[in-house]
Amino acid sequence: MTALTWGRRFLMCPPEHFGVLYEINPWMHREVDVDLDRARAQWGELVATLVDAGATVDLLEPQPGLPDLVFTANAGTVNHGRYVASRFRHPNRQPEVDHDVAWFAGHGFEVVDLPEGTGHEGAGDALPFRGVFLSGYRSRSDAGAHGPLSALLGAPVRPIELVDPRLYHLDLTFCPLDDRRALVAPGAWDSYGRKVVEALVPEPFALETDEMLAFCANSVVVGHTVVMPVCPPRVGRQLEAWGFDVVVVTVDEFLKAGGGCRCLTLALDVAIPGAAGPPPSMGNGAAR
Ligand code: ARG
Repeated sequence: MTALTWGRRFLMCPPEHFGVLYEINPWMHREVDVDLDRARAQWGELVATLVDAGATVDLLEPQPGLPDLVFTANAGTVNHGRYVASRFRHPNRQPEVDHDVAWFAGHGFEVVDLPEGTGHEGAGDALPFRGVFLSGYRSRSDAGAHGPLSALLGAPVRPIELVDPRLYHLDLTFCPLDDRRALVAPGAWDSYGRKVVEALVPEPFALETDEMLAFCANSVVVGHTVVMPVCPPRVGRQLEAWGFDVVVVTVDEFLKAGGGCRCLTLALDVAIPGAAGPPPSMGNGAAR
């Protein structure tokens, strides 16, 4: 296997102000209490596991009143040191953007914006694979985001319609493993999206309904290590047969808000090979 070229440096945000304070996806129920000590311990275990696997972790400062800031996957989309800020659908998450932008601007990234009114929720809905970004839309990101996103990232973007409201972000349905393999959840996509993935992924492993709803695609891959919120036996057997080391990190406090391991991380080192680097400005099309 040839390991992914990215996934060695992540942005994460400590869960000091995490909680389920509103309901913007089918998993969130305000009456369910979050155990903050458990959440802190689980988050710490995730950091330690990623570092053990060979990754480095940068920290975003937690902010009172922004419980979902922990899900840094939604902060934006990164390619070649350029950061495309997210535009959140729900007002509850929109105030996160200023904090995300400040972090990226302060850490040497070039910060760019999608056109106003164009919703896109970052790497939660956009994952690189074989020289393109797959990008989910419908529940959170807009179908119309893909053109501008492609121009800003300097890389092709292939849209995938997410049809199951329980799997509302792409990273709940797709997990790149190496240069040929990925965990895929075709049951969460429309028929066109399935075709796009079929054409792109040489060796997919298709998740069954219970496996995808357990969030097992929401995993973080660091070289040969797959860090998973859960690992159903059938999935574990395949990953091991392919030569991966599987580490399960319990993140059930975060599942109460509808997020798992991948949602809690944002890869900062994505540099799509073959893309010439982002174009200097919007409007001159994608580098294809
Ligand atoms: N409560 C958060 C929301 O609904 C969870 C975000 C999960 N993030 C992800 N990348 N799937 O927005």
